[in-house]
Amino acid sequence: MKKKVLSGIQPSGKLHIGNYFGMIKRMVEYQESSDLFLFIANLHSLTTLQDKDRMKTMTLEAATDLLALGIDPCKCHFWVQSDVPEVAELTWILSCITPMGLMERAHSFKDKIAKGIKPNLGLFCYPALMTADILINQSEVIPVGKDQKQHVEMARDIAIKFNNQFGDVFTIPEPDILEDVAVVPGTDGQKMSKSYGNTIPIFDEPSVIKKAVMGIVTDSKGVDAPKAPEKCHVFALYKLFATAEERTSMAGEYRKGKIGYGDAKKALLERIQNTFEPFQKKRAELTARPKEVERILEEGAEKVRKITLKTLEQVRTATGLRY
Ligand code: ADP
Ligand code: TRP
Repeated sequence: MKKKVLSGIQPSGKLHIGNYFGMIKRMVEYQESSDLFLFIANLHSLTTLQDKDRMKTMTLEAATDLLALGIDPCKCHFWVQSDVPEVAELTWILSCITPMGLMERAHSFKDKIAKGIKPNLGLFCYPALMTADILINQSEVIPVGKDQKQHVEMARDIAIKFNNQFGDVFTIPEPDILEDVAVVPGTDGQKMSKSYGNTIPIFDEPSVIKKAVMGIVTDSKGVDAPKAPEKCHVFALYKLFATAEERTSMAGEYRKGKIGYGDAKKALLERIQNTFEPFQKKRAELTARPKEVERILEEGAEKVRKITLKTLEQVRTATGLRY
């Protein structure tokens, strides 16, 4: 039996190549090796994104982007969180057995407050919602970055507590910490991130992508000077796209002073264009047919509700809410 792997992605605007290599590519791989459950976490976004039009657009765009990048609704469960209302009911039920102290220890809540985000009750209860996402699908493996590890541990604690109190209803999930995912550097060498304005976008005009690549910061060594590939952000990005042989060959050219940064950037740009061109085409096709995306999401929610309704029924029975 394939393992049930679940992840949620908050709609977060223009995707960049850090998102692709850090997460989306892995999801596309998971849909081959596992029983993948992937959803757009719009109820999570609502804790901070409170603008009707932006919420609608960003949700549809996130879905379109993921479909364009290879998420295949025939190979996985793919839906929008709020289309499966059972998760909200389970959140409430789980909140009632979750000790306040457990929530109060959540790092991400403390971090968000430290960043000046005004806390609301939803932001505080966010780990309970994430727990419900995980448990309602009886998920086994949760691939997450280190920042989300504590939330999966909370989900385990809450599942164990529920099972002890009401009988074995929930599968106990395991985090799969994505430690080996290399941090993709941005054009300035820091972690590529929207918040640092150093991204290379995936779905933008070719001129915008080119400008970002040509703007990658390098030292000022001339074309003929020997260069250290391991210190160069252009090379670090090129590595993501190249085969082992191509990496060795480019590294050799760097060391021997046979390539300048301008040409290295051109080679990188070509790789980026070749890799993402089919995805860009697919995205343009999907954007032209928004009804098709909506249909995929509707069917995705319908498919997953066969599982969520069943789990919720077990929970209602186990707790005595089904009288
Ligand atoms: P951003 O930092 O641009 O706001 P998010 O926090 O929305 O990106 O990240 C969404 C997903 O993409 C997360 O799973 C995260 O681990 C992954 N990711 C984002 N940036 C990078 C990066 N530079 N390298 C590797 N993975 C990344
Ligand atoms: N909280 C996650 C994030 O911000 C998104 C998410 C919501 C999630 N529910 C989940 C991830 C369940 C894994 C499992 O990135």
